Amino acid sequence: MTPAKPPQAPSLEEQVAILKQQLQQAQKLTSLGDLVSTTTHEFNNVLTTIINYAKMGQRHRDDATRDKAFDKIMTAAQRAAKITNGILGFARNRSQGFEPTDLVKLIEDSLLLLEREMQKYRVTIERKFQAVPQAMVNSNQIQQVLMNLLVNARQAMPSGGTIWVRLVHDPANRAVDLTVRDSGAGIPADKLPRIFDRYYTTKSGPDASGKGGTGLGLSFCRDVIEAHQGRIRVESTVGKGTAFTLKLPVAQTAEVAPPVTIDMPVAAPQMPV
Ligand SMILES: Nc1ncnc2c1ncn2[C@@H]1O[C@H](COP(=O)(O)OP(=O)(O)O)[C@@H](O)[C@H]1O
Ligand SMILES: [Mg+2]
Repeated sequence: MTPAKPPQAPSLEEQVAILKQQLQQAQKLTSLGDLVSTTTHEFNNVLTTIINYAKMGQRHRDDATRDKAFDKIMTAAQRAAKITNGILGFARNRSQGFEPTDLVKLIEDSLLLLEREMQKYRVTIERKFQAVPQAMVNSNQIQQVLMNLLVNARQAMPSGGTIWVRLVHDPANRAVDLTVRDSGAGIPADKLPRIFDRYYTTKSGPDASGKGGTGLGLSFCRDVIEAHQGRIRVESTVGKGTAFTLKLPVAQTAEVAPPVTIDMPVAAPQMPV
């Protein structure tokens, strides 16, 4: 009988491949973790509003106060419903596939989840949306990318500021450009080439909202955009702010023109050209 072969240790290449996969998983979990912490915070805020106005309604018996309390409770509950719908949509769409996606809706879904956080840090959001065709993306992943950029922008403005979110059609490249610009600290030129590196961070750890400090956000963004065959570009001026632009492919169906038919006479004389 031949002795059983001892199990082979994985080769160096195999080990690298396994580690890369684990890292990718960690990147995904970090941005998913950010999303969960955002939505939980938001939901908690809404509940606090509902509870406080319900208490007010119990304490005050007059119609005017009660009407006001009911109005506030209704508005807050409607907001809660929007948030849960957003989360459900996100959870349902776990596919790896790319689909024609309305980027305005994707942006609004993301901003809704970050609304309170932005208010808390005194950040104003300005929208500049051109009419753009649908983009061919995995909306789940692009939403995570966008939320990463928005949170980074917010963190670059510790005493508040403005974030401009812009959508521009780039027909020459069959692309849509999505830009997130902030009026924050900016990034020094010598640091700029490193920001997409894994684990590169200038933050000492997660902030009071439990976000950032891993250095995995932008490397996740870069990986996702590469998988979309898109581009991610950064422009920054110290003391003025930073802009990240995603170039995303337009969905083919979004641009298909109706077929053109021409009736040609069978024996048409050839026109000189
Ligand atoms: N909008 C921005 N303004 C200024 N610096 C930024 C901005 N976005 C990213 N950075 C810099 O890039 C680094 C890496 O970002 P990221 O990969 O998201 O990791 P993290 O947010 O965990 O630090 C940040 O630590 C910060 O120094
Ligand atoms: Mg980050």
